[in-house]
Amino acid sequence: MYNFDFCVSTQIFFGKGQVVKLGPAIKKVADKVLLVYGGGSIKRNGVYDDVVRTLNDSGVEFVELPGVEPNPRVTTVKKGGDLCKEHGLQAVLAVGGGSTIDCSKVIGAAALYDGDPWDLVVDRTKIQKVLPIFSVLTASATGSEMDNGAVISNMETNDKLGTGHPGMLPVASVLDPVYTYTCSAHQTSAGTADIMSHTFENYFSKADDFMLLDGMAEAILKTCIKYGPIALEKPDDYEARANLMWASSHAINGLISKGKADAWSVHSMEHQLSAYYDITHGDGLAILTPAWMRHVLSDATLDRFVKYGVNVWGLDPALPKREIAEKAIDLTQDFFVNKMHIPATLREVGIDESKLEIMAQKASTKALQTAAFVPLYPEDVVAIYKSCLG
Ligand code: NZQ
Ligand code: ZN
Repeated sequence: MYNFDFCVSTQIFFGKGQVVKLGPAIKKVADKVLLVYGGGSIKRNGVYDDVVRTLNDSGVEFVELPGVEPNPRVTTVKKGGDLCKEHGLQAVLAVGGGSTIDCSKVIGAAALYDGDPWDLVVDRTKIQKVLPIFSVLTASATGSEMDNGAVISNMETNDKLGTGHPGMLPVASVLDPVYTYTCSAHQTSAGTADIMSHTFENYFSKADDFMLLDGMAEAILKTCIKYGPIALEKPDDYEARANLMWASSHAINGLISKGKADAWSVHSMEHQLSAYYDITHGDGLAILTPAWMRHVLSDATLDRFVKYGVNVWGLDPALPKREIAEKAIDLTQDFFVNKMHIPATLREVGIDESKLEIMAQKASTKALQTAAFVPLYPEDVVAIYKSCLG
């Protein structure tokens, strides 16, 4: 277990109707905010009205920035930063999924930066200050509501990069499971796969002797496996939506990662797919994960896969170890494809052989080669991509 510092100060307002606490919380630090949202789902499902009501009731003025894209673009970050500067806004309020929250976090930094906002994505040390960030989460997936990271795309250079700063950690986030009832089946599946992937990135790590973290990670995975299909079947099942929502936050807020080395191998490979083909993050993760598992399974990693198979999938520990490991991987793929109805292959999401090498070069970062559960070099990444082509 490595040493670590842990501080996640986000105030969480969890549950039905908790949005009423948002306006008063914002009013403590800001009179005028940028209200950021995506393609309009919040206007169709009533979340926008709830948010505007609490802002009005608390005397918080706002300027709006609609239109944040899934895989948010740096061009939108720039628009938001400019609006903050122009109107002297004091905080940024994101209402949406991970894309809207990520975009808002970097807007908060861009508002207090004189250069090109892309600088802040390429080099996080350039972020000096960030406007206070607030969020109302509408899709359980990324955990952006309770972490200090953000992922921004530049479609001109085909780059999708993560950045982060302690000031990007939301001051407060509203987590009302009811707000996720209107998520499409596709978003529900992709979000569940994302939560599971965040957990895998930490569960399968170099330091594998941390019983407490492993137990918490296994609980998150079992939560997704149980409640993902229920949320698909019955989108307004409160218990399912609530479990997925809190799992989303805890899969990435540091609770299950601090004390471990994490390289985020599958995320690094997936971000290239989104950068070049603009696919849904969770779809890419679900396609790559079983292939990555098969690639890294060896005598050296066998015990970890056995632990996964027995504790998460309930496989019989008396079976031969190799059989348990392979079954666990097959069950993972079966879950994504047959229970959550996520495409099984890269071709199904429009990806062919043409860019595998360039994407593999970009994915195989220093972290992947040194800190990963199993080091991945460009040739490994190409092999994983190829095995997913279908
Ligand atoms: O644009 P709107 O109208 O909001 O619709 C969105 C969008 O079309 C829709 N949606 C969200 N909540 C809804 C809803 N539709 C109906 N009802 C609701 N309640 O869902 C679509 C996808 O939204 P998006 O925000 O893109 O999804 P998600 O939350 O999965 O975010 C994905 C982004 O987050 C990044 C990903 O790379 C991707 O860019 N990530 C951020 C991380 C972080 N900050 O820590 C970590 C993750 O690993 C991930 O990389
Ligand atoms: Zn993710």
